[in-house]
Amino acid sequence: MTTRGRFITLEGIEGAGKSTQVAVVADWLQDRGIPFLLTREPGGSPLAERIRALLLDPASAGMASDTELLLMFAARAEHLARRIRPALEAGTWVVCDRFTDATYAYQGGGRGVDMARIGLLEDFVQGPLRPDLTLLFDLPVELGLARAGRRSEPDRFESETGSFFARVRAAYLERARLYPARIRLVDAAAGPQDVAARVRELLGAFCEPTAATVGSA
Ligand SMILES: Nc1ncnc2c1ncn2[C@@H]1O[C@H](COP(=O)(O)OP(=O)(O)OP(=O)(O)O)[C@@H](O)[C@H]1O
Ligand SMILES: [Mg+2]
Repeated sequence: MTTRGRFITLEGIEGAGKSTQVAVVADWLQDRGIPFLLTREPGGSPLAERIRALLLDPASAGMASDTELLLMFAARAEHLARRIRPALEAGTWVVCDRFTDATYAYQGGGRGVDMARIGLLEDFVQGPLRPDLTLLFDLPVELGLARAGRRSEPDRFESETGSFFARVRAAYLERARLYPARIRLVDAAAGPQDVAARVRELLGAFCEPTAATVGSA
């Protein structure tokens, strides 16, 4: 019998360094010979990527919050069915750049959708499946936006205001407070090497809980 793979997610506001640190997680797993799938949300499968395009398109401006929420979970249902569940069942670890904590943060915190409704959809779409480990990259909104701003034209979320992202950040921190064993905070304002070291430390603690307090090289 194959052991189920572990499910690791990376979360945080724009420019927090999620995509940068996915590579660190990948290297860490590779070094240990652990098979893994790198993916992202919204998206991660062909149909889910088409839904992502609808969600991010500036031409979708004014989309109703409920539409946005349902599209996020529609994309997630497809991603779970096509890629995440098959991988986990085959013993492959899944590393996902954003997942349902982002829905609580952006649609819940940012847009003001009732968190309980998000919870209903989470149960409906995922059943009992939750990430095993979530790395939450936390930093001041202005710093994240300044980093993200170096890129090309903003998508529909990147065009939001600072107060929107302040609510997103607060909702993420509240999630971390509610689920301290799963969601581990990373100080993302630090330099890339320090952030990477913290990521490796948390991965080590996740894999060998008894060694968690010993620290890591
Ligand atoms: N620790 C860091 N210190 C300084 N700059 C960083 C750090 N981590 C990432 N960056 C830079 O900040 C920018 C945003 O990083 P990245 O794309 O990894 O963020 P992200 O969290 O994936 O953002 P998004 O949510 O918009 O996809 C990139 O130009 C990246 O090189
Ligand atoms: Mg990214």
